[in-house]
Amino acid sequence: MAKKIVLLPGDGIGPEIMESAVRVMDQISKSFNVTFSYETADIGGVAVDNHHTPLPQTTIEACKNADSILLGAVGGPKWDNIEVSKRPEQGLLGIRKALNLFANLRPIRVYKPLVHASPLKSDRVEGADILIVRELTGGLYFGTPRERRDNGNTVVDTLQYTREEIKRIMHIGFQSAMGRSKKLTSVDKANVLESSRMWREIAEEVSKEYKEVELEHLLVDAAAMKLITEPKSFDTIVTENLFGDILSDEASIIPGTIGVLASASLNDKSLGLFEPIHGSAPDIAGKGIANPISMILSVAMMLQHSLSMPKAAEVIEKSVERALDEGYHTGDLDMDGKVLNTVEMTDKIIEFMREE
Ligand code: NAD
Ligand code: IPM
Ligand code: MN
Repeated sequence: MAKKIVLLPGDGIGPEIMESAVRVMDQISKSFNVTFSYETADIGGVAVDNHHTPLPQTTIEACKNADSILLGAVGGPKWDNIEVSKRPEQGLLGIRKALNLFANLRPIRVYKPLVHASPLKSDRVEGADILIVRELTGGLYFGTPRERRDNGNTVVDTLQYTREEIKRIMHIGFQSAMGRSKKLTSVDKANVLESSRMWREIAEEVSKEYKEVELEHLLVDAAAMKLITEPKSFDTIVTENLFGDILSDEASIIPGTIGVLASASLNDKSLGLFEPIHGSAPDIAGKGIANPISMILSVAMMLQHSLSMPKAAEVIEKSVERALDEGYHTGDLDMDGKVLNTVEMTDKIIEFMREE
């Protein structure tokens, strides 16, 4: 039976790199004798334009009935000044909440050829391999009240977590660490925030169930520094929503571009949404030069985490690595070799997939 994949291209470079994803999936379909059926739905700015809301009910329904979901990116200057409920980002937050996608896995791996693309010293980044486990449906992003008071002179956002919400993401952190090098860094701000003090308490509690995993706690400010000075000292990181958002963009300095970072957003069932960690890149949108690797590796994560096709995921990863190894890259990467546009880079990766 065909696997039903919902495509949410979104805005800016989203549709450009989604095209690469579909071409890569078509190749997987040929090599692995599996059929994918695609349904494209609107989210973000394009949904505001077409349906007057960033998250139409029809999009939610399509996603709920899917085997898996791929998302490009949302947002852009066109929608920056509209009312808050209609901002494209609300579509993304809304779909994460609607599908209960609380666990966001953001791997940062430095493929060999990228060692020299990083602005950091090569010996610091060579071999770095980090997984950031970001809590995705709680914290400051979703806590209420969120409002202006006092005639607009006071503003309130709320950082709220329940014990259950922290516990379930902590289990994902420990389980991820178990499948890697059994070291988990829990990042918080327990010297200031009450939410972080409970976060730390629960980390300790849950660690009793994973005796083989070495747990360390790190304050987020120190973590931000150490991520750059000693990236190799990290293996698995588990952290709350906003800290994870910021640290994962920061971590893109390690491989040298955010254009290669993919992610998986998972719930407690088998449904997942797979997307690059970057945004719609308005500065390069429409030029056909975006790096498609973030989206193509999101396809690999989908095959691995949601469609039980680890071999297919491996073929994609190997082909991406080979393309970079042979010097093919997009303009966001500062490295030797040949600069290609989005379509050409995708062509190369697919060419190497055929040879796997
Ligand atoms: P961004 O991630 O879109 O861009 C930051 C920088 O990285 C830009 O210079 C951009 O050109 C570059 N970049 C990003 N992806 C790239 C790729 N694949 N190839 C080459 N270069 C790439 O962040 P921003 O500019 O702060 O945000 C733009 C819009 O995207 C905003 O509306 C923001 O809210 C939204 N956003 C959406 C998501 C998402 O959909 N998941 C994530 C982050 C930001
Ligand atoms: C991300 C993005 C989103 C987030 C925005 C666009 C709501 O930055 O996926 O990292 O902050 O989660
Ligand atoms: Mn982000």
